[in-house]
Amino acid sequence: MAANQFDFSGAEVLVIGASRAGIGAAIARAFQEAGATVAITGAEPEPAEEDRDRFRYDRLDVTDLDAVRALAEGVERLDVLVNCAAITSRGEEMEPAFFQRVVDVNLHGTFRCASAFHPQLRESRGTVINIASMYAMFGSPRNPAYGASKAAVAQLTKSLAIAWASDGIRVNAVAPGFIVTEQSARSRTDPAHVAAVSARTPMGRWGQPEDIAGPVLFLASPLSGFMTGTCLAVDGGYSVV
Ligand SMILES: NC(=O)c1ccc[n+]([C@@H]2O[C@H](COP(=O)([O-])OP(=O)(O)OC[C@H]3O[C@@H](n4cnc5c(N)ncnc54)[C@H](O)[C@@H]3O)[C@@H](O)[C@H]2O)c1
Repeated sequence: MAANQFDFSGAEVLVIGASRAGIGAAIARAFQEAGATVAITGAEPEPAEEDRDRFRYDRLDVTDLDAVRALAEGVERLDVLVNCAAITSRGEEMEPAFFQRVVDVNLHGTFRCASAFHPQLRESRGTVINIASMYAMFGSPRNPAYGASKAAVAQLTKSLAIAWASDGIRVNAVAPGFIVTEQSARSRTDPAHVAAVSARTPMGRWGQPEDIAGPVLFLASPLSGFMTGTCLAVDGGYSVV
């Protein structure tokens, strides 16, 4: 057994949706600190200020298949693909056009990226980690599209795991609980919601983006070498109550 199985020296990592100093950025930083060469993408013209000189950055809209394919064509080698791009808007998702947009970004975007990088991942016998959510398991009256898309991401993870096992590619997911990021900023303006989440969470707090990075590194490491198709809850115990 290697001395440090969390040593990613020499690994090429791409985190899709890491531009807003949220979960994707925390994952990217953790891989870099573990020795990997890390590139990130996001919908914004530039990444968060603190990450500007840190990573190669490509602006990428995951709903644009040609753009996703063009990005993949420029990448020679890839060991780890993390699919983190997603949108949600509490209270707007009963509107059919927005529902469709959410599913397009969160579900189809994940599939577009995984599929575009399949050749490189096959070559490296690499790994894919998709970011799901608690809402993959629970209903949410204000986020119906988000929940449906994340349940589908967890399901897609299983199907890709089976389809690509013979290529030596492992495909897993992480389902974060409630995490303090820009994406959750709007819901966190509701004090009752903030308190209800903390009260239900056995660990008594919201998560930080860094809380998600360790489990993702684990799923990309040889320590999880017999895991594929799984979805790990990283939620301070929220889902077991
Ligand atoms: N914050 C939470 O409480 C929470 C909980 C569970 C799961 N998640 C998931 O974690 C992941 C990261 O979320 P976050 O909270 O860090 O959010 P965030 O809003 O900070 O990051 C979302 C990222 O997705 C990118 N993105 C949005 N639309 C895109 C598009 N069309 N094409 C390409 N990229 C696009 C953004 O540029 C950004 O980089 C998401 O998949 C999210 O659903 C978040």
